[in-house]
Amino acid sequence: MSQPRGEFSSRFGFIMAAAGSAVGLGNIWGFPTQAASNGGAAFLLVYLVLAFCLAYPVLMAELIIGRHAHANAVQALRLISTGPVSRRLGVLTGLYGIIIASLILSFYAVVGGWMFGFCMEPLPRLVGADAIAGWLGGFSLSRNVVLAALFMLITIQIVSGGVQAGIERWSSRLMPILLLILVLLALYVQTLPGAAEGLKAYLVPDLSAALSPQLIISALGSAFFSLSLGVGTMLIYGSYVSEKENLPLLGGLVTAIDISIAVLAGFLVLPAMYAALHSGVEIFGEGGVLLAEDTLIFTVLPALFNTMGLMGVFVSLVFFLLMSIAALTSSISMLEVPVAYAIENHQLPRKRAAMIIGAVITTLSMIIIFNFEILFGFVVTLTTRYSQPLLGFMFCFFAGWIWQRDSILQELLKGAPEVKNTFFWRIWPSYVRFVCPLIIAFIFLQNIFG
Ligand code: TRP
Repeated sequence: MSQPRGEFSSRFGFIMAAAGSAVGLGNIWGFPTQAASNGGAAFLLVYLVLAFCLAYPVLMAELIIGRHAHANAVQALRLISTGPVSRRLGVLTGLYGIIIASLILSFYAVVGGWMFGFCMEPLPRLVGADAIAGWLGGFSLSRNVVLAALFMLITIQIVSGGVQAGIERWSSRLMPILLLILVLLALYVQTLPGAAEGLKAYLVPDLSAALSPQLIISALGSAFFSLSLGVGTMLIYGSYVSEKENLPLLGGLVTAIDISIAVLAGFLVLPAMYAALHSGVEIFGEGGVLLAEDTLIFTVLPALFNTMGLMGVFVSLVFFLLMSIAALTSSISMLEVPVAYAIENHQLPRKRAAMIIGAVITTLSMIIIFNFEILFGFVVTLTTRYSQPLLGFMFCFFAGWIWQRDSILQELLKGAPEVKNTFFWRIWPSYVRFVCPLIIAFIFLQNIFG
């Protein structure tokens, strides 16, 4: 604890960093493709309800615990614990979160590397270096290794810069660019023949598809992943927020931005898919179901861009630049979890912590790449399907049952005495105590036994 702790310099900085963490491949790739195959607007509705009624309260639990403790999850959960047993449980939960955050980053870096590859691919093609372009857009072992390592290197570089000069600065630069690209691309795509068909698929609700239990479970999983919950990311970002800020408001804004970007991405990806269909690219597989998510992004969209001549080269570059930015602002938030722990609990200087932990996670990515068929799906399922809900449950348990209610209320009032008059104030404490854990537990058990 010898080094001074970082803090976001402004409200804007925090919102960009937290929204940058939340807005990632989950929003721009996962959400639209899931909505496309699962009842369009009806899926959107289910997702909205879950995000605000379940994910937002859990996000608040993390932010509040983090700001109260001004420390990483291990320290924070220990601090709010009242007895030796809960203290030990707190430490274990914090450590589990750190491991899961690192594992999520290890597969995220592989995907981030693909995005880099597709983003750079048009450049050599433009000058006729087709072999290089082919390598960048192909799925060779060497390309996956090099680009995942590059992705990790940039992530490590940003996190080494610290809270303000690294995370906040880069999130504040990249997020507005992301929004601009997204809006421009979505507008452009509407002009392509066939786009209207995609809008229809997105906006006409099919309730029968969206209300199946299986779907609700996967929507919850997406909502948790999308808001970066459970692993201590939001807790650590919350710990860098000034005491002067109104936390429920900030958390609400971050949730709203996250959802809006997902919805906006739907206006890009679905019309683009149907535009691809219009120009002869297959988007439905056997039995008329939409192709799987990865095929849509890595085969269908590039095929569409290919039919567009020079314009396609440019659009392709910009589209995958968007994906790369989204991935980077998220990956830094994952790396910050173990790094903050190493700094605070083991007194490592930030640069060294980022480098060592980054190297370990890069090694994990390599192991995944070399055993892709066996490991990739396994790590994704282990972390996002099982561990994130479990950890989310634990955070609610600590916020609702272990931490003293008075102390929570005091924390909420800091910087915003007006919170006392809000609906949030009246309902949230008992909500995270009873409702959230129950729903998460139910869905989790469904996941295992259902
Ligand atoms: N929310 C990001 C996305 O939608 C991913 C992410 C960032 C994340 N940090 C996380 C997921 C921590 C789980 C835990 O892509």
